[in-house]
Amino acid sequence: MRRRGGAEAVEHGNGDGSGRAAEGRAERPRRGWLGWCPRLRTVLLQLLLMYISVPFLVRLFPVILTKFVFLNFMAFPFFADLRQPALLLNNTISLYLPTEPGVTVGIWHTVPGSSGTEARGREQRWFEEALADAHPIIIYLHGNGGTRAASHRIQFMKLMGAAGFHILALDYRGYGDSSGHPSESGFTTDVLALYDWAKARSGNSSIIFWGHSLGTGIATNVARKLQEERGVQVDAVVLESPYTNIRDAAANIPITKIYRQFPGFEYLILDSMALGNMFFRNDENVKVLACPLLILHAEDDTVLPPQLGRQLFETARRAYKDKSKVKLITFPEKLGLGHDYISSNPELPTLVKDFLNMK
Ligand SMILES: *[C@@H]1O[C@H](CO)[C@@H](O)[C@H](O)[C@H]1NC(C)=O
Ligand SMILES: *[C@@H]1O[C@H](CO)[C@@H](O)[C@H](O)[C@H]1NC(C)=O
Repeated sequence: MRRRGGAEAVEHGNGDGSGRAAEGRAERPRRGWLGWCPRLRTVLLQLLLMYISVPFLVRLFPVILTKFVFLNFMAFPFFADLRQPALLLNNTISLYLPTEPGVTVGIWHTVPGSSGTEARGREQRWFEEALADAHPIIIYLHGNGGTRAASHRIQFMKLMGAAGFHILALDYRGYGDSSGHPSESGFTTDVLALYDWAKARSGNSSIIFWGHSLGTGIATNVARKLQEERGVQVDAVVLESPYTNIRDAAANIPITKIYRQFPGFEYLILDSMALGNMFFRNDENVKVLACPLLILHAEDDTVLPPQLGRQLFETARRAYKDKSKVKLITFPEKLGLGHDYISSNPELPTLVKDFLNMK
């Protein structure tokens, strides 16, 4: 393309021979198709420069990469008042939990639909006491970007709340109205604190970690930590649209597609995940777990391909002694659930309850 364009330009110049155009060309010979549109050339060169420099910048300053992975600055929906969940969601209050000195996270607590009437107008104290009402409790760990008020998350709380679950949905540090700066180890600390808080109030009710997307790595991080450091088993872990680890996730998400052929893609981009202290090792974590583990993946997930969920399932199945405790449910393409909308499938509560042997 470029060469042919160049040849044409030269021919054109030769053929022209004389006059006004020839004078112009004598001073500033124009060669190549970029030659006749300097502004386009400048823009293209800048884009090329940006394209080439991003991987090197990421390698030099992995903190840039953490911004892309966490996307906490994209706090959509931008005008939702997180202190007023009632405008978006029934049976719900917002509460705040200090998770370590200097860090307080915002949480929504949705009570089961059957307690809805009773919950109206109640204070936080009533909600806390309700946690011991024998309904199972889901600690919901959302994916990257946005806050707990994002529409697909609200959809999840509506569906599972109506189906008889308590839901505690937090914004990790650095997200929503939570303070602090995001980091993988910080997220683990936040969720562990929420688990302890819930456990102290839950009586005999079971507690389930439910991770979506990026949150799946946080769910298994915390479940593993509880088991290894305290010998405590969470009652179940559900992983919705998961990955094997953050490096594999980065190698598969669409946004890195334009770099997959880039020389040094692995070294410059994928290896920089570890330099930014991001691991999210679902694949290593599930080998340690022994609690019921349910993996959900839609066949038409274009963000994290379903092969990653399958691979994670195989890894867990190989490692678990009791194979019946690990299950993979995939959702066919025709349902159109994609990466974010498994929680809009009305069958979901039944599938989950069947797996957990609940009524
Ligand atoms: C809350 O429940 C009422 C009664 O069922 C309903 O009319 C209303 O739309 C619900 N509000 C929200 C925010 O979902
Ligand atoms: C928990 O279960 C045990 C045995 O079933 C029962 O004795 C106890 O009262 C229950 N505790 C609560 C807080 O419900």
